[in-house]
Amino acid sequence: MSNPHVLLLGAPGAGKGTQSRRLVDEFGIEHVTTGDALRENKQMETEYGTPAEYMDAGELVPDPVVNEIVKVALEEADGYVLDGYPRNESQTEYLDSITDLDVVLYLDVAEDELVRRLTGRRVCDDCGATFHVEFDQPEEEGVCDECGGDLYQREDDTEETARERISVYEENTTPVVEYFRDQGVLVEVDGERTPDEVWTDVRDAVAERAD
Ligand code: AP5
Ligand code: MG
Repeated sequence: MSNPHVLLLGAPGAGKGTQSRRLVDEFGIEHVTTGDALRENKQMETEYGTPAEYMDAGELVPDPVVNEIVKVALEEADGYVLDGYPRNESQTEYLDSITDLDVVLYLDVAEDELVRRLTGRRVCDDCGATFHVEFDQPEEEGVCDECGGDLYQREDDTEETARERISVYEENTTPVVEYFRDQGVLVEVDGERTPDEVWTDVRDAVAERAD
């Protein structure tokens, strides 16, 4: 089996990062995520300004910046789970021109639950593992279970910015979900269950379609 090309769609806080980490472990593929790549280069000067100017307001970073990140990452990956891209129709067309997808998954979660998840999220500074102050507490507060690193709160996980991100998502990315649904390739997963329950459906969908 060649390594699968997986696209994971879902609103901010739907659990894309959480499920992507499990896909990486299970299928030995790369996690390609524009959000993490941009956070690592937040102060980088581009002709459009820095990514930080957009991210801290909850807005989308301009397409040419993210398209380039994805192109380079996909060229280097032998199998991948793509998370956080595409986020609008123009990115969808660009993605279509550079790769083929085996599976398109959509994690469905209602807005109130998204806000709860985002505002309570804590992320490891070292390994990127994700926790939640209520739903997925680390054994020791502020310390990563996996590597002992420090946990921090993302700058865009305040309630105000989280709500803005969800509204930007609804306006720009809902058409992307519709596009794949219309093509008949979208696998819809109820994302409002525990991470383990969601994972069972995610894993099975990828295993079935990647043969
Ligand atoms: P990005 O980092 O991609 O953020 P996002 O899409 O808003 O998604 P999140 O990472 O917030 O959520 P997630 O679905 O990964 O949730 P997670 O698994 O962590 O983008 C950030 C910014 O970068 C954008 O706003 C934009 O500015 C820019 N950007 C990025 N890509 C771009 C692009 N292509 N074009 C333009 N701009 C771009 O889970 C969330 C929380 O819930 C965690 O605490 C977790 O523990 C908990 N949780 C997870 N699953 C469950 C569950 N089943 N039950 C209970 N709790 C759960
Ligand atoms: Mg994420």
